[in-house]
Amino acid sequence: MEAANITNSIPLLTPYKMGKFNLAHRVVLAPLTRMRSYNNVPQPIAVKYYSQRTSKGGILIAEATGVSDTAQGYPNTPGIWTKEQVEAWKPIVDAVHDKGGIFFCQIWHVGRVSNSVYQPNGQAPISSTDKSLTSNDVQQFTKPRRLSTDEIPHIVNDFRLAARNAIEAGFDGVEIHGAHGYLLEQFMKDKVNDRTDEYGGSLENRCRFPLEVVEAVVNEIGADKVGIRLSPFAEYAESGDSNPNELGLHMVNALNKYNILYCHMVEPRIKSASETIESPYSLVPMRKAFNGSFMAAGGYDRQDGIDAIAENKADLVVYGRLFLANPDLPKRFALNAPLNKYNRETFYISDPVVGYTDYPFLE
Ligand SMILES: Cc1cc2nc3c(=O)[nH]c(=O)nc-3n(C[C@H](O)[C@H](O)[C@H](O)COP(=O)(O)O)c2cc1C
Repeated sequence: MEAANITNSIPLLTPYKMGKFNLAHRVVLAPLTRMRSYNNVPQPIAVKYYSQRTSKGGILIAEATGVSDTAQGYPNTPGIWTKEQVEAWKPIVDAVHDKGGIFFCQIWHVGRVSNSVYQPNGQAPISSTDKSLTSNDVQQFTKPRRLSTDEIPHIVNDFRLAARNAIEAGFDGVEIHGAHGYLLEQFMKDKVNDRTDEYGGSLENRCRFPLEVVEAVVNEIGADKVGIRLSPFAEYAESGDSNPNELGLHMVNALNKYNILYCHMVEPRIKSASETIESPYSLVPMRKAFNGSFMAAGGYDRQDGIDAIAENKADLVVYGRLFLANPDLPKRFALNAPLNKYNRETFYISDPVVGYTDYPFLE
């Protein structure tokens, strides 16, 4: 089949210029935690995993990567705060570049979505609040310690250094993880943030810390290398907001001042990792208000992605589970080929191959 002829007529597979990056299509690999970075160090097995999912001119977002020794809440997630971690990322980034891909690192702090076993000296996780998450069969959470006002600049600095390290490792840029109930959202959302200092209360105050992170990262590596992920509508990890639409709009308007490269938003239909809902909301107001490139994620299939691009609801469409299970997803979309099914059971196992690099390519 003549892939070039077909792709020209499929909006999802048309080129797009994002800042200085010439993207060949609009199918983006979502950040996907895979828990195969033993002892928080990226492993050589990730060379194959990311390389399999690279296409020439395609953009990949690496899995959530810890900014400091307090940033983890799960076993075997990668970090980027030590020299060893930076060195370990290099061959992985090189492999993506060798195939003509563009690679962003998602930098992350889990905040209270953690347990003292993942913390230095078994200390309490840090957060905007000292309210605990409800533990369940899968995760046991430790009561967090509320950050004092004068500690916040140190966390901002951890993000700045992590961004510097990501560039040192060869990444083309970073995506600040401001979604899914992790530390930045624990400040943004009013169902979590119960602070009385200048980081709590009003919408402006609640967004202060995330925007300080953005500013620090922009000053460190340049706005043309910075994206952010936001999920104002989601309620992961008990982090809802009473006015998500207003929160989303406030953030994109504030982000415009920093001229960052992209804003990556999770669709309102995604309520949590395991729950999809019908929602009266849409990302369109934020897409319209934001000046940079706009990525949309969450529950997209091929046709949905085509429609989103055709209707100008996004510049790029981000695929998680489908890309996890289909390393050659852009090609399958081009050919409208059948897709492999993902296996939830192997998403987070530590096996270096099974459910990781053994999903088959098209014949
Ligand atoms: C195995 C797995 C790991 C994930 N890890 C992350 C992550 O590290 N960072 C993040 O922002 N979202 C993460 N997500 C959410 C995805 O990026 C994506 O938003 C979600 O899967 C919905 O998109 P989909 O319907 O295309 O899968 C993860 C999802 C899955 C299934």
